[in-house]
Amino acid sequence: MTSIILANSNVAFEQRVRRAFANSNGQLTRWPDEIVSSDTTLAVRELADAGAEIVGIGPNGDVALALDLARAFDADHPEIAVILVATPTKDFWEEALRARVHDVLNPDADDVEIRTVFQTALETSKRRRSNLLHEIGGAAPSGRVITLIAPKGGSGKTALATNLALALSYGDENVALVDLDLQFGDVAGAMNLHPENTIADLAGLSDNFATATLKVFLTAKSNSLFVLCAPESPAEGEEVSERSIERAVRLLADEFEFVVIDTSAGLHESTLTSIELSTDLVFVCDLSAAAVRATRKVIDALDRLGIDQQRRHFILNRADSKVGIDVADAAAVVGLPVAAMIPSARAVPLSMNHGVPVVESSPRSPVGKSFLATARLFSETPAKRSGWLPVRSRS
Ligand SMILES: Nc1ncnc2c1ncn2[C@@H]1O[C@H](COP(=O)(O)OP(=O)(O)OP(=O)(O)O)[C@@H](O)[C@H]1O
Ligand SMILES: [Mg+2]
Repeated sequence: MTSIILANSNVAFEQRVRRAFANSNGQLTRWPDEIVSSDTTLAVRELADAGAEIVGIGPNGDVALALDLARAFDADHPEIAVILVATPTKDFWEEALRARVHDVLNPDADDVEIRTVFQTALETSKRRRSNLLHEIGGAAPSGRVITLIAPKGGSGKTALATNLALALSYGDENVALVDLDLQFGDVAGAMNLHPENTIADLAGLSDNFATATLKVFLTAKSNSLFVLCAPESPAEGEEVSERSIERAVRLLADEFEFVVIDTSAGLHESTLTSIELSTDLVFVCDLSAAAVRATRKVIDALDRLGIDQQRRHFILNRADSKVGIDVADAAAVVGLPVAAMIPSARAVPLSMNHGVPVVESSPRSPVGKSFLATARLFSETPAKRSGWLPVRSRS
């Protein structure tokens, strides 16, 4: 049962939250006393001991104290999602983001907004709670980060990334798809999305932007699939720093069960950043000798860099093409078993041109089934957690 505690609140606001949550299976409590003390650590401990999963602070009381409380929650109980109820001025927002609050709720918000903010806070809190439990047990957060890699352009990364992400979102889990082909990424086109914001918008943010900010930049494909689309122009992509990519991936992995990352051909700095944050690497390759050899070179390069913590998967695209190399040859050169094979099918380019991935338009076709089977490699096996070390400097 959900436990929401409202601190420094009042009866009128409590009733509005109660109304917004009518019919939901949760427990809403208003903290009886105003928190006025400077001992925020103690206040946080008491609220945590009372079983809070979400704490709403305000609209009464001093905003500076509310921010202090938020910081104390972040330090001592990061699994508890904090919502500040206050007029969101720009300065206040910036402070709130630094304090890693879940959201700032305008005291005049309507029922729908109140419900949405508390509902997403609940999901965040649940995920953080389970992540922390994993960490205590020696594992890292539950969000699984899957980066697709192909040294050769046109190997099928985008075809696979879009179908894989969509297929994973058909389960019970939430998926984020990141288009890290910063110059020419076209996940948006392949999914018929018209993003208002893109990954380029990260460029204008401070280094420790918050989840709430990042969420604004996502484009919804469905209720369970959200896409961080590539910039409109190659020039915009150049403005996006490695640090902001790293932060975005980490935040997404805190929020989503799966983060699928499409990359550009080659091994760019941004791809290396995403590789180091990943739990799983997917090497996508067709049966051309050049692509197979290049894949091997990338794997060797990662080994030399000591990037060997992630689970590696080798996926053959256009696996039925008769071009002289067979599946066994490819596996031998690459040095990995073939985890899945995607046949060649006209439906793939057609679907990308129409913006409807194959798993949506023809899930029962052989190629549709092969994408769905590829998704099961991830949904049915536990992640090997280890790609969560701080990204090393490569300079
Ligand atoms: N299994 C397949 N059968 C037929 N066509 C395919 C298949 N996979 C990919 N294609 C087509 O090959 C082209 C390249 O695929 P895709 O864009 O997915 O590759 P990519 O690795 O993302 O390329 P880039 O490196 O340029 O981003 C596209 O036109 C796509 O529709
Ligand atoms: Mg691509």
